[in-house]
Amino acid sequence: MKRFENKTILVTGGNSGIGLSTALAFAREGARVIITGRDQATLDAAREQIGGATLALRNDQGAPGAGQTLAAQLSERGVRLDALFLNAGVAKFAPFEQIDEALWDDTFNVNVKGAYFTIQALTPLFNPGAAIVLNGSVNARIGMPASSVYAASKAALITFAKTLSAELLPRGVRVNVVSPGPVTTPLYGRLGLAPADLTGMAAAITEQIPLKRFGTPEEIAGAVLYLSAPESAFIVGTELIIDGGMTQL
Ligand SMILES: NC(=O)c1ccc[n+]([C@@H]2O[C@H](COP(=O)([O-])OP(=O)(O)OC[C@H]3O[C@@H](n4cnc5c(N)ncnc54)[C@H](OP(=O)(O)O)[C@@H]3O)[C@@H](O)[C@H]2O)c1
Repeated sequence: MKRFENKTILVTGGNSGIGLSTALAFAREGARVIITGRDQATLDAAREQIGGATLALRNDQGAPGAGQTLAAQLSERGVRLDALFLNAGVAKFAPFEQIDEALWDDTFNVNVKGAYFTIQALTPLFNPGAAIVLNGSVNARIGMPASSVYAASKAALITFAKTLSAELLPRGVRVNVVSPGPVTTPLYGRLGLAPADLTGMAAAITEQIPLKRFGTPEEIAGAVLYLSAPESAFIVGTELIIDGGMTQL
């Protein structure tokens, strides 16, 4: 029997990068997968790629009431959740002096407020023993220039893993966070940098990683599956850093 057979798993931002790899990994392990995202074309493509009874729902995690809307869409389909990978997030980098309120609001609306109220709205749908994994970042652990707002938003998730684990314990739901280091995904193309600057940035980051390479989305997916499975039942409110040693050596 596969590890997630008869289990229903929701991956937010499951139409790209780490989220898509994780959705594929859950599906390979027998799960029924539900994904969300904003972009209809990549949602459709991801649903096709994942296959089976995959459900793809358009949901902007930064919009007011996004969590409630999603919970209503799932409820009307009779969905109960065994795991949630809260992965959708935006990464906007700019030097401290250039940060404006729009960047702050967008980052915190999606990465913090949207994440928090999505969990709150979905809580009635969790089966006992369900696991929530949040997608943080090593940026919460280091002082990388131009990352101040993004890093703060990811630091909030580390505390949510602890406080929400404490509050959801009576329901048998635990919350943990993965904090990836640099991972090769379409995210870097969304930073708004010119190709030459992007290449320079990637080379500079690679130098800071003891393994001298970026991680792969599959390497993050493996950790998310572990933290979502019964084999990690004794791991509660913690952070798993997956960064090629970037913050450790
Ligand atoms: N790549 C890295 O080096 C790295 C390192 C540490 C942490 N992370 C975190 O990993 C997560 C996934 O990023 P990725 O690297 O896989 O990049 P990605 O390929 O750009 O994926 C980002 C995902 O988030 C979704 N998303 C963004 N804003 C959204 C919103 N308002 N509502 C719903 N979905 C939204 C995107 O969907 P649409 O395309 O439909 O908007 C997409 O599926 C993010 O939380 C990021 O902070 C990435």
